[in-house]
Amino acid sequence: MALNLKNRSILAVADLTTEEVKYLLNLAKKLKEEKITKHKHNNKNIAIIMQKTSTRTRSAFEVASMNLGIGTTYISGSDSQMGVKESMEDTAKVMGRFYDGIAFRGFKHEDVETLANHAGIPVWNALTDKWHPTQMFADYLTVLENFKTTKVKFVFFGDCKNNMGNSLAVMAAHMGAHFVGCAPKSYWPAEDVIATANQIAKKTGAKIEFTEDPMIGSKDADVIYTDIWVSMGEPIDVWKKRIHDLQPYRVDKKIMNNAKKSAIFMHCLPSYHDLNTDVAKQINKQFKIKEFEVTDEVFRSKQSKVFQEAENRMHTIKAIIDATI
Ligand code: CP
Ligand code: NVA
Repeated sequence: MALNLKNRSILAVADLTTEEVKYLLNLAKKLKEEKITKHKHNNKNIAIIMQKTSTRTRSAFEVASMNLGIGTTYISGSDSQMGVKESMEDTAKVMGRFYDGIAFRGFKHEDVETLANHAGIPVWNALTDKWHPTQMFADYLTVLENFKTTKVKFVFFGDCKNNMGNSLAVMAAHMGAHFVGCAPKSYWPAEDVIATANQIAKKTGAKIEFTEDPMIGSKDADVIYTDIWVSMGEPIDVWKKRIHDLQPYRVDKKIMNNAKKSAIFMHCLPSYHDLNTDVAKQINKQFKIKEFEVTDEVFRSKQSKVFQEAENRMHTIKAIIDATI
């Protein structure tokens, strides 16, 4: 069924109905299958504002826009007046007069809400500390491609209280999945996030659970998912505690073998699965650990679908822009 999402901002999957989430997912599937996208939004322009760094999300917005005939302006956190010399509200009012949409990656979720409240054009949350909605569509397109259904046992390991853990719990609720967050209790999402997920789950038949036991969590899972232990914007000195707390939740062969034979491994990326990054080298020097949230073996295994998932960022962001602009 065609839904009208024109002029809608996408700030969190928690703000969307299950019907709207499914509509966007189906549109993404269709756009990916069609491969060539017509320049159907010629003469439109969007701004991509990123206060944190990005490879996939920025590229997805730029390539998807190009395919749709839309012009883009990239603005990094350090090269505009926003937040420093000009409020979010005033920035939104200015940008709304230049552009037809804004993708925004920032820190406080309230900032993207302020932009959306004052810009008068659709605002797409390209990641905040609390939510990462555009990633959700890529993740479940990948699930759909691998299992032909979204009603899977989906287990998230590690920092469940961050943007990815929060978003995946709510998205699983929309998708009718069985979600298990696997982490020490202090890393489980805030109560409001769990309540939202459970409220949606009541209508869709999804199950939302949390456990501290990696073997109970991963038992017969279809999807094993993890994210980095220290997210963008968090101080480097939290690494010590995170390593201590989350090391038992590293995704390794033992966890994959405890899941179903057909299980896949997913990760939003970037990942510290080896020592080929500056951060991993620095943490290795300081704390002597060689592997972080996932072992290199699992990351590079046949079960790993991380690059299929990364490609899907583009197709799903294209659907989001197409539906809302
Ligand atoms: N997964 C994701 O959002 O990647 P980037 O930080 O590279 O955009
Ligand atoms: N939790 C991670 C996600 C990166 C896509 C971060 O916020 O850095």
